[in-house]
Amino acid sequence: MSKAKVIVTRRWPEAVERALAEEYELVINESDTPMTAEQLQAAFAEADAVCPTVSDKITEQVMSPPSLRAKVIGNYGVGFNHIDLEAAKARDLVVTNTPEVLTDCTADTAMTLMLMVARRAGEGERHVRSKEWTGWRPTHMMGTKVTGKVLGLVGFGRIARAMAHKAHFGFGMQIRYYDPYPPADEIANAYGALRCDSIEEVMASADFVSLHMPGGGANTGIINAQKLALMKPGAYLINTARGDVVDEAALTAALRDRVIAGAGLDVFQKEPTVTEALLSMDNVVLLPHLGSATLETRIAMGMRVVDNLRSFFAGKAPRDRVA
Ligand code: 8YV
Repeated sequence: MSKAKVIVTRRWPEAVERALAEEYELVINESDTPMTAEQLQAAFAEADAVCPTVSDKITEQVMSPPSLRAKVIGNYGVGFNHIDLEAAKARDLVVTNTPEVLTDCTADTAMTLMLMVARRAGEGERHVRSKEWTGWRPTHMMGTKVTGKVLGLVGFGRIARAMAHKAHFGFGMQIRYYDPYPPADEIANAYGALRCDSIEEVMASADFVSLHMPGGGANTGIINAQKLALMKPGAYLINTARGDVVDEAALTAALRDRVIAGAGLDVFQKEPTVTEALLSMDNVVLLPHLGSATLETRIAMGMRVVDNLRSFFAGKAPRDRVA
């Protein structure tokens, strides 16, 4: 029996590429640069499975080659707002993602951003490297204490709960959260987390607000000027979710006008472009979408795709089917 053909749109960790090559006729985008819409469309015409990442826009057009061969999209990542799910369903394409395996590392990145921005770690690093540091002094680069403060979580899924755990048990933080589908109280109680009735309530009551909702759809621009204005002037916004959930122009204005104290951002509205305004601000920590970027997690994500494809091609239901 001939092997199924799988196209992977970017380079993945070696161990995962090897695992895929053992089972499939594998084509990897060796250049590791984003494929064009035409190249992606050709992949859907040529392969049985296409494995994209957040850097690929899987639009209706991409999924509509003159003759569609693909039957499954094995997404590398938990978020799938770069895939038009309705169009995929209309073409009987099964879509899978990679939940759970990246929960801790993404929460760790949110913690990193929170600590860095509160303790001015990015600024401090730049200061030392630029050889401007003249020595210790009592009022040098004073930041904001994190331990014991209020952490507000917008969205209370796996990654938010992992952050709640780390922040509550590691840093004695009080946790507040809003989620349109809140968990049972005993789940929230395990982190000492108090449920809020709205995003506004979280924003107004927290010292740090961390975003954990899916991107796209109704969440686009949901963190707007009105909501940012509710935050305490000394509060910080952390985003490891998706760039599009924040109105970036409104955030930039809020940072510039000191409506809020700072922000820690791993994701941006037009990745990989980061605006000159954000680049020029010292009260912002900027990371290049590193949420899940550890070798352990990136291998685990790939193995989850391997698992999902194996189930699919064996005629079983893939565990992480989202469409
Ligand atoms: C991934 C992410 O690295 O999984 C996600 O949704 O945002 C990141 O952690 C990226 O999406 C890979 O496709």
